[in-house]
Amino acid sequence: MLDGKKILLVVSGGIAAYKTPDLVRRLRQLGAGVRCVLTRGGAQFVTPLALGAVSEDTVYQEIFSLTDENEMGHIRLSREADLVLVAPATANILAKMTQGIADDLATTALLATDKPILVAPAMNVRMWENAATQHNIKTLAARGIGFIGPEEGDMACGEWGLGRMSEPEAIAAAIENFFRRDLPLTGTRSLVTSGPTHEAIDPVRYIANRSSGKQGHAIAAALAGLGSQTTLVAGPGHQPDPKGVDVVKVETAVQMLEACRQALPVDVAVCAAAVSDWRVDTVAGGKIKKSGRKKTPALKLVENPDILASLSAPGNSRPRLVIGFAAETDDLLANATAKRAKKGCDWIIANDVSPQTGTFSGDNNTVHLITDKGVEDWPTLAKTDVAERLAGRIAETLSPAP
Ligand code: C5P
Repeated sequence: MLDGKKILLVVSGGIAAYKTPDLVRRLRQLGAGVRCVLTRGGAQFVTPLALGAVSEDTVYQEIFSLTDENEMGHIRLSREADLVLVAPATANILAKMTQGIADDLATTALLATDKPILVAPAMNVRMWENAATQHNIKTLAARGIGFIGPEEGDMACGEWGLGRMSEPEAIAAAIENFFRRDLPLTGTRSLVTSGPTHEAIDPVRYIANRSSGKQGHAIAAALAGLGSQTTLVAGPGHQPDPKGVDVVKVETAVQMLEACRQALPVDVAVCAAAVSDWRVDTVAGGKIKKSGRKKTPALKLVENPDILASLSAPGNSRPRLVIGFAAETDDLLANATAKRAKKGCDWIIANDVSPQTGTFSGDNNTVHLITDKGVEDWPTLAKTDVAERLAGRIAETLSPAP
C-alpha cells in the first residue's frame, strides 16, 4: 500500500533501466504517484515516452533545459517527493552521489533533496566488487541511504554474480516496507476472520447468516494500515479485498478454522466472522427433491468448531491478544461478559444487532469494548472508525510507547 505517496524515480544508465516502466506501473498500482528523472545514460535504455506513458507525468531529463527548469525547478522536483528512488543505480551515479557531484538534473536533484533516498544498484559483478564501489556503498549507507539489492544472477554481459538489479516486484515490496518502518504495528502479524460462513445442505442450498463482513474487513485494513502483516480469512461475501492484506477465502466454519491455523503464529487475532454454530451432519450428494416425498425432510445438525475458543486456548501458538465479538440482541453486556470468560479471549467487542439497529448490513456500529479492566462504551461510529480505533488500541497494547 503506497496510497498517496510521491516517489521521484531517477533512472540511470544501466541495461536494467528497461525494467523501469514495469516498476513504475507496479508502484502506481500500489497507489503511489511516480515522477521520473532520466539521465542521459538512462535514456539510452528506456525512452522518455515509455516512462511518460506509464507514469502519466512529464519525464525530466536536462538541467539546462529551459522547459524543464521553467515547469519545475530542480530543487522543487527533489523536495516534492516523499522518497527518491534511484533504479537502476549504476556504479557511476553511486560514485557521483558519494562525491556530491551535481553535473546533470538527476545528480543535482539527489544533492538537493531533503527526502530519504533508496537505491537499487545494477552493475557488472567486478564493478560491484571493486574497492571504489564498495567504499562508496559504505559511505552512502553510513549517510542513511537505503540499498535494495543487488541480487546474484546472470548478467547482461554474460557473467554471473552479484550486481543484478532486484526485480521490480521486490523493489516495490521494499518501498512498501520502507514506508511501514515507523508504523506502530510494524513487525507484528495479525489474523482477522470476517463475514458469514455457508454450510452446505446439498449442492445448491446452504445455511448462512446476515453478516456483511464490513466490520471484519475494515479491521483487517486498519491493522495493515498500522503496518501489521495481516491475514484476513473471509467467508463468502461482496466486500472488496482490503489493500495490503493477504486474503484467504473460505466457505465453511471448518475451512475457516483450518485457514486460521495455517496463518499462525500471529501476535493478534480478531474474530469478527459470524461463524455458523452448526453444520449439516451429512451433506446430500445431489439436490434434495421435493417431488415424491411423503415427509418434509429434517436436517440433522452437528456443532461447528469454535474458532475463537480454539485460538484462545492456552498453548505455544496462542496469539498475545485474542479478540472476539459478541453480537447480541438481548442483555448485551451480561451476555458479552459471560462470552469473554467462556471463550477465553482477552477482549470482547459487544454490539447490539437487533434489527432496529441496522448493524448487520449498515455502515455504523455501536460497540462496547470489554477487557479485564471493565467495559468501555464507544460512541456510534462508522465501521471503519470502529476498526481504526480498535487497531489503535491493539497497537498500544502490543507495542506500548516507551
Ligand atoms: O458464540 P458466538 O457465536 O456468539 O460468539 C461470537 C464470537 O465467537 C465471534 O467473535 C465469532 O467470530 C466467534 N466464533 C467463532 N467460531 C464459532 C462461533 C463463533 O470464532 N464457531
